[in-house]
Amino acid sequence: MIPPPIVQRGLFTLDRSLFKKTVSVMALRIPANLTMECKKAIGTDMLLEPKIRNVIDSDDGEKSKRLVLLNLDIKDKDLEGASEGTKNFIKEKGIDVTEAQFNVAYDHWTADEVLRAILPEDLVDEAPSSFTTVGHIAHMNLRDEYLPWKNLIGEIILDKNPNLRTVVNKMDSIDTTFRFFKMEVLAGEDDMIAEVRESGCKFKFDFSNVYWNSRLHTEHERLVKMFKPTDAVCDVMAGVGPFAMPAAKKGCLVYANDLNPVSYKCMLENKSLNKLDKNLVIYNLDGREFIRKAVADLEASGYKGAPPSVPGTKKNHGKGAKKEDTPAVAAPTPAPAPVVLEENSNRLKTFDHFVMNLPATAIEFLDAFRGLFKGREEHIPEPKVQLPMIHCHCFSKSEQPEVDVRERVEAVMGGKLELDSVKLHWVRKVAPNKDMYCISFRLPAEIAFASDVKRKLEPAMESASDAVDPLTAESDEKRQKTE
Ligand SMILES: C[S@@+](CC[C@H](N)C(=O)[O-])C[C@H]1O[C@@H](n2cnc3c(N)ncnc32)[C@H](O)[C@@H]1O
Repeated sequence: MIPPPIVQRGLFTLDRSLFKKTVSVMALRIPANLTMECKKAIGTDMLLEPKIRNVIDSDDGEKSKRLVLLNLDIKDKDLEGASEGTKNFIKEKGIDVTEAQFNVAYDHWTADEVLRAILPEDLVDEAPSSFTTVGHIAHMNLRDEYLPWKNLIGEIILDKNPNLRTVVNKMDSIDTTFRFFKMEVLAGEDDMIAEVRESGCKFKFDFSNVYWNSRLHTEHERLVKMFKPTDAVCDVMAGVGPFAMPAAKKGCLVYANDLNPVSYKCMLENKSLNKLDKNLVIYNLDGREFIRKAVADLEASGYKGAPPSVPGTKKNHGKGAKKEDTPAVAAPTPAPAPVVLEENSNRLKTFDHFVMNLPATAIEFLDAFRGLFKGREEHIPEPKVQLPMIHCHCFSKSEQPEVDVRERVEAVMGGKLELDSVKLHWVRKVAPNKDMYCISFRLPAEIAFASDVKRKLEPAMESASDAVDPLTAESDEKRQKTE
C-alpha cells in the first residue's frame, strides 16, 4: 500500500489537496517486446497497487523502451527485497535498473485509508468507514467520540462511494412505536426518499419516517417462499410492505396493515408502483384491531380461495371478480385440467398465513386470535389443516429459546400450541446476548374457537357492510385512513 501523505491530524474540514503525493520506486528499463516475459518472471516484485499502471513509457525518450515499476519494498539498485528469480532474470537479460516517479492524489486511497490518515491518532484503530445502504442513502452509526468529525467522515464516505447521494448518522433515539430512527444528514443531499428493490419489487419510502432494514431481506424472502400463489396472507405489521408486496406479486391475496400513517401511505404508493391493484388491500390500524377486521372483511368479501394457477388462467379473488377474469381454459396443448376450487365450492375460506414482524411486542398481540374463529366454524371444516399458520417475530435472550418463546406465546394465547406444527427460526443477532427469532405455528383449534375471549379489543364483529372488498379496496383504504 502507498502510505497517504502525513497530514495534520484532527482537522475538522476536509482538504483533499493535502493528499497529493509523488512516489518514487525502483523500475526496470526494458525493450517493449520483453514486457510480457518480464511481468511473468518478476511476478509480485512488480508494483501491484490499485489504479496505478505498473508499466509506463520510458523516461529517456526511447519509444521502444518501457519502465516496469517495482514494488515499494524494493528500495535500491541492489534490489534488496526482490526474489532470486527477479534478480536472475535482470542479470540474464542485462536489464537496466533505475528510479521512477509517479503522482497520486486523494482519489487513490479508500475511505478507510483517508480516515486513518486524518483522524486523531487515538481514534484511528476503529475508524468508522462502514455503513448500511438504503437506496442512495448511507446510514452510519457513529460512536460519540467520532461525532466532532461527523461531517468530515460523511464527506469522505460520499466521495468514495459514487452511488451514494446522502450520508446520515443514526441518532440515539428510536421512535418506540413505529421503529424508525431519528437521523442527521452528515453530507450530501437532504433527500430521505429512498428507492430500493427487494425480491423483485420496487419500494419507495421516506427513510426518516418509516421502518426499513435491508438486513431482513433473507427473512422476507424466506417467508414469502413459504406462501403458495393461491394463499391468502395477512401481514399485521407490514411496514412499507417487504413481505406483503412480494407475496402479492407471487399471486397471493394479501391484506397488509401498519399503524404508522407514513408507512400506510408508502404502501399505497408501492402498491401502484408494483401494479398490485387486484390482490393487495392496505389498512392503517392497530394490529389487534386489524387481525379481527381483516378476517371479517375477507369473510364479507365472499372469498372462497384462489384457483390454483394453470397456464392460461388469470387470478380471480373475491366476489367482485369480473367475468373476463375467470380462468381462461384456452388453447395450450395439452389442454389444462379443469380448475376445481374445492369439493364444496360454497364454502368460504380464511387466511392461510398471518405475519407479525414487530419483534419487541408482537407476541402480546396474539391474544387477538383467541376466539377469533368462534362462530365461523363452518368456514374451517378441517381445523387441523385449514386453520392459519402464524409467523410471529420476537426477541429472546434465553439459552433455551424454543421453550422461552413457545411458553410466552402460550401464556398470551391462553392455550397450548400443537408441538408438531411449531418451528422456531433464528433470524439474526441484534445484541451480544439477544437474538431475533420467528416462531411459526398453526393456530390451535382450541384457541381459535375458544368462547372465553379476553382481548384488549372492545367492539364486536364488524357488520358485513363495513367490510372491505379487495376489488374495491382503494376507496375503502381512504375510509380506513380517515377513521
Ligand atoms: C419492525 S417493523 C417491521 C416492518 C416490516 N414488516 C418489515 O419487515 O420491514 C414493525 C412495524 O410495526 C409497525 N407497528 C408498530 N406498532 C404497531 C401496531 N400496534 N399495530 C400495527 N403496526 C404497528 C411499525 O410502524 C413498523 O412499521
